[in-house]
Amino acid sequence: MGAKPEQFTCAVLTMSDKGSLGERVDRSGPMLQELLAGEGYRVVASRILPDVVSEIRTVLCDWADREQIDLIVTTGGTGLSPTDVTPEAMREVIDREVPGMAEAMRAASLLKTSRAVLSRGVTGIRGRSLIINLPGSERAARENIEVLLDVLPHALDKMKGGLDDCGG
Ligand code: MTE
Repeated sequence: MGAKPEQFTCAVLTMSDKGSLGERVDRSGPMLQELLAGEGYRVVASRILPDVVSEIRTVLCDWADREQIDLIVTTGGTGLSPTDVTPEAMREVIDREVPGMAEAMRAASLLKTSRAVLSRGVTGIRGRSLIINLPGSERAARENIEVLLDVLPHALDKMKGGLDDCGG
């Protein structure tokens, strides 16, 4: 029998300078929490942070190393503006990259908007946690995470050493 979302914990991290100061309402974070909970994942944490590498790194490491959260989804800070630093923080945190997931999200997004190429989002593993960067707008975050929903339980099971057959 295949792995189920109910077996895994998840957390949502929003990167937004304005959101972290309460100057903008964060819609993508709550949307992602609701979507993932609707899939069956156990949402155990959420935060809004400014676009600061050291702060992003600290929370990602804490969630992966201390809280051992299975799936960490981030939203925002993946673009080209000078303040966008989520991918830079990711590269300091992950042990292994999972490029196919980011490639698939960009490829599917390109069918919707040519601006998909502007997301530099990275996907990777720290310890036993899978970390996925999504763009910041509510619509973009939804369009991107939807690409991975089918494969996520199997991916998370594999990371735990699961022997589930990869075929099919
Ligand atoms: N991907 C999808 N599916 N839909 C979108 O509307 N917007 C793009 C891109 N990816 C978009 C998308 C835009 S306009 C930007 S600037 C980048 O994501 C980066 O977004 P971020 O800086 O908010 O992380």
